[in-house]
Order: sequence, then structure tokens, then C-alpha cells
Amino acid sequence: MLARELVALQAQHVKPVDGGVHFAGTLALGYAVNLHSRVASRVLWHVGRAPYRAANSDQDIYDATQKIDWPKLFGVERTLRVNVSAIKAPVKSLDFITLRIKDAICDVFRARTNLRPSIDTHAPDVRVHTFLTATDITLYLDTSGEPLFKRGYRREAGEAPLRENLAAGMLALSGWTPDVPLLDPMCGSGTILCEAAQIAANRAPGIGRAFGFEKLLNFDAPAWESLREKAYASENNSIKTCIYGSDLRGDALELARANLDELDLAAIVSLKQANVFEMPAPVDLTESGGIIVTNPPYGVRMEDRDALAAFYPQLGDALKKRFSGWTAYILSSDMQLAKGIGLSASKRTPLFNGALECRLFEYKLVSGSMRRVKPGAPV
Ligand SMILES: C[S@@+](CC[C@H](N)C(=O)[O-])C[C@H]1O[C@@H](n2cnc3c(N)ncnc32)[C@H](O)[C@@H]1O
Repeated sequence: MLARELVALQAQHVKPVDGGVHFAGTLALGYAVNLHSRVASRVLWHVGRAPYRAANSDQDIYDATQKIDWPKLFGVERTLRVNVSAIKAPVKSLDFITLRIKDAICDVFRARTNLRPSIDTHAPDVRVHTFLTATDITLYLDTSGEPLFKRGYRREAGEAPLRENLAAGMLALSGWTPDVPLLDPMCGSGTILCEAAQIAANRAPGIGRAFGFEKLLNFDAPAWESLREKAYASENNSIKTCIYGSDLRGDALELARANLDELDLAAIVSLKQANVFEMPAPVDLTESGGIIVTNPPYGVRMEDRDALAAFYPQLGDALKKRFSGWTAYILSSDMQLAKGIGLSASKRTPLFNGALECRLFEYKLVSGSMRRVKPGAPV
């Protein structure tokens, strides 16, 4: 999904790899990806790569970091945080390596200016990300700053809210487009609805927030301003779309409403308090069908697996009875519970909700052809 977004933004050399997508382009393309990507978590700018020897890893990593001209990239007055991740790296302690990398950066500044940047691990101006493999170190400057799922509209989180970029990814995987009715019948704080409303209004997801690239020395303010102006100009808040959200809990709906209000998009989403087991499909649309995208309550946080074991069969029955003609996309982290829904999935896409491995199950709710899976059969 991210590779598709990048191609649409005219990125070059787009190459999906584990955990991300490589791409190349101008500085302004980097700004555009930060502004427009709905599914990326961060945009990292590759600033260096070097091999290191296992037997001399600490010193080699220090030397590789020192070779980069950091004072050309950001001012010494900026606060700094260093992140290190590693796969099969022959180093004793990642904390120690993090310190060495930080020292190397600060030493470059000190040698040049007699000053060094301060460290701020909570809200740094500049984040340096380093990745270690068994043989190489790669260094990146984070052009995003705060992760991109923080769009800036969420005031309060409800019970187990989804990350915004995961919600947007679920919508992308469902193939939903704003001309098709959309329902989240367990909407909680409304993350899926908020993302859908922004897609419908052609709202750039990053329009309301700040980015890490604004703190770098090569920041091209006019190029950024022109991208933002273009994004504002292409918004369409008067679009006709059918987006519905409901939840059992009134307090969850209040959160969803507050988040939609914050986006100024409450007018294009209908919210209703309802039990998914009893609610009919949105009334004028039963003929045409639509798409359900939702994440039901799940075990890790609800700690009530008996209730959930009863929940899924009821959900399956409700969908089967009242939503024929619709296609449902349901996120679940529990394959056993998901089997209880009693519908056969036409697709299962692995996704991560934070650290929690999930599947997005696709169910085509075609009347008459619905078949119940045998107990124990793969879902
Ligand atoms: C995991 S949360 C959804 C979180 C949401 N996607 C968000 O980002 O905030 C599951 C939601 O299902 C709702 N729920 C539980 N049982 C329900 C039922 N029978 N009918 C409708 N909603 C229900 C809960 O109130 C909760 O808000």
C-alpha cells in the first residue's frame, strides 16, 4: 500500500523491503510523502552507510558516524535523539552503541564549533535513526519527527484506539472509495471514520502538524509552503459520501464526534449509538450494499475471553442476516476467536496493530452463498 502511495507521488526506485519501502527523489518529494502518505510511519533520509567489523564494532561504528558532516545537516542549537535498531548485529549492548553514536555526532560538532547539541529523548528537534545488520551500519535523519500516525486531530483516545495509519491501511486494503457506502459498526473513538472522512474530503493527512524536516538546515520553506497551499486548494469538504459509524457506548461516540469535529468533517459522517448484533444496515442502502471496516473488541486488553468467544458467532450471524451484499473487513489478533465468526474468509492480510500481530479478514456477505465453516476448519 505504501509503495502504491509512493508511486502515485512520483517517487523513483520504489522498492518494498521488510518493514518499509525504499524510494528516491528530491527534498520536496520527501516533504510531499510526509504530507500525503496515509500509511507510512516515518520518512527517513539516508545519510550514510558503512561496513563494520564484528571484532571492532564499537570503534568502527563510532568512526562511520564521525565521517558524516553533521553540522551541515542541522544546527548545534537543535536537541538530538539517537535511535538504534539491529538485526543479528554482533554488538554487546544497543544502549552502549547508542551512546557511541551520540558521542560521535557530538564530537563532530565540538571539533567544529566548540559546542555540542543537547540530548532530548522526549521531544527532540532532530532524530537520528541507525540500523545495524551483521555487517553494516546505515544512518538516517528522520524527516517526520513525531511518527506520521500522529495527525494532530486526536484529542482523547478511547478504549484500544487504532493507529491512524493502520486505519488508513485497512481502508486502502478494503479498496473503499468515497462513492461506496462505508460503515464501522464498532467505531470507538472513530479512527477509521476520521481517516475515511479525510480521504473523502481529499484532505492531506499531515496538513495540521509539524515535521522534523522543518528543523534541518536544508529546509526549503518556500517549497514546503507551496506544497501546503496546493494541498489546501485541492480539499473538497462538500463531497457527497455515505460514511456511517456506530458503537454500543455513548461515551465512545462522543469521542468519535469530538475527533471528527476537530477535523471539521463531522458533517460528512453519520453517527448512531447501536448494538452491532441488532442494528440494520444503514436504511437507504440495503439494496446497494457497501463496505464494513472495523476492529472489534479484542482479548489482550479486554481480558474477557469468554465474552469474546460468544461475541464472534453473534457478529457473524448479525452480518449474515442484515448485511447481505456488503463486504466486511474485520481486524482481529486472535485467529481462534476469528474462527468463531462462522463465515469463510475470502482474504486474510497480516497486519501489525503496534506489536500485536493481526489479520484483516475479508468476508463477502453474499446472500444465499454464505457458507458456515466447519468447526476447526481454517478461517
Ligand atoms: C477495539 S474498540 C474499537 C476502537 C476503534 N477502532 C478506535 O480506533 O477507537 C472496539 C469497540 O467495539 C465496541 N463494542 C463492543 N461491543 C459492541 C456491540 N455489541 N455493538 C457495537 N459496538 C460494540 C466497544 O464499545 C469499542 O468501542
